[in-house]
Amino acid sequence: MRSQLPAVPALLASLLLTSLAGIAPAAWSAEAIVIKFSHVVAPDTPKGRAADKFKELANTYTSGKAKVEVYPNSQLYKDKEELEALQLGAVHMLAPSLAKFGPLGAKEFEVFDFPCIFPNYTGLHKVTQGPLGKQLLDKLDSKGITGLAYWDNGFKIFSSNKPIKAVEDFKGQKLRIQSSKVLDAQMRALSAIPQVMAFSEVYQALQTGVVDGTENPPSNMYTQKMHEVQKFAMVSNHGYLGYAVITNKKFWEGLPADVRTGLEKAMKEATVYANEVAGKDNEDALAAMKASGKTEFYQPSAAEHEALCKAMAPVYEEMGSRVGKDLITSIQKEAAAK
Ligand code: LMR
Repeated sequence: MRSQLPAVPALLASLLLTSLAGIAPAAWSAEAIVIKFSHVVAPDTPKGRAADKFKELANTYTSGKAKVEVYPNSQLYKDKEELEALQLGAVHMLAPSLAKFGPLGAKEFEVFDFPCIFPNYTGLHKVTQGPLGKQLLDKLDSKGITGLAYWDNGFKIFSSNKPIKAVEDFKGQKLRIQSSKVLDAQMRALSAIPQVMAFSEVYQALQTGVVDGTENPPSNMYTQKMHEVQKFAMVSNHGYLGYAVITNKKFWEGLPADVRTGLEKAMKEATVYANEVAGKDNEDALAAMKASGKTEFYQPSAAEHEALCKAMAPVYEEMGSRVGKDLITSIQKEAAAK
């Protein structure tokens, strides 16, 4: 499932060649406008399903004037490369995890990575589907990117080949993380050793022992077969993993107005769909992994969950100035409001 990528010079050359064709609204003829949507997860995940739903709706609502092509599983680009490709216009839409916006200079998105920041989905959606979420998306404008929507995956669980039941167990464990400084601080707060790695490389790294474990929502863990190479997991639900759907601003604004309106409508409906299916996808994935018997799942008690959150709390002080203390407070308030 993991892709073979072209060597970097070849990749750069292909990016440069396709970028002009990608951004320029040259193809506004009778031919359908091709919109390449690249992502790194399997099709049968919350993001994979939502991308496919958007493709279907986009076709309907633009009366076939736009043709969305979805490339899953890092087939086209890995994590960091896909962002570069979007900026160059070689690909038109992505939905990277909110933990991956740091390299774009949009560090504020790492606020979603703070441990135990969202008490539940209701609080989370008040942020992502409300004015705060919109303000954050608008910050991407200056990077040449238009933020279109937030899609859920879900709450993350820890997994490892070494037992993880209590806070003390994390000490010295090598754990893969996404490229977020907040996640780096989170793992260090647990006395673990964080290692940034592209999603497409995680399975092999777990299999060969390059890292002991990782954190992911169950749907990602299951569809990448990580449970086959992880002996233990803790159903910790300690942090959130979700996505911002983004597009190249120049490309988006260069689209004929009727096509853009159709795509906006499709995105709105695909977002409702995404956030409806995500919870069940994760529940089903967890149940399937438990049934497979390959990983031993530990369900922490409320007190153990609280102890875990407490152990990770220093991240708020340490990373507060990186994402903005006011932003953290606003998000906490919004997420907790009844
Ligand atoms: C990860 O790298 O673990 C996730 O961001 C993958 C994804 O897109 O859900």
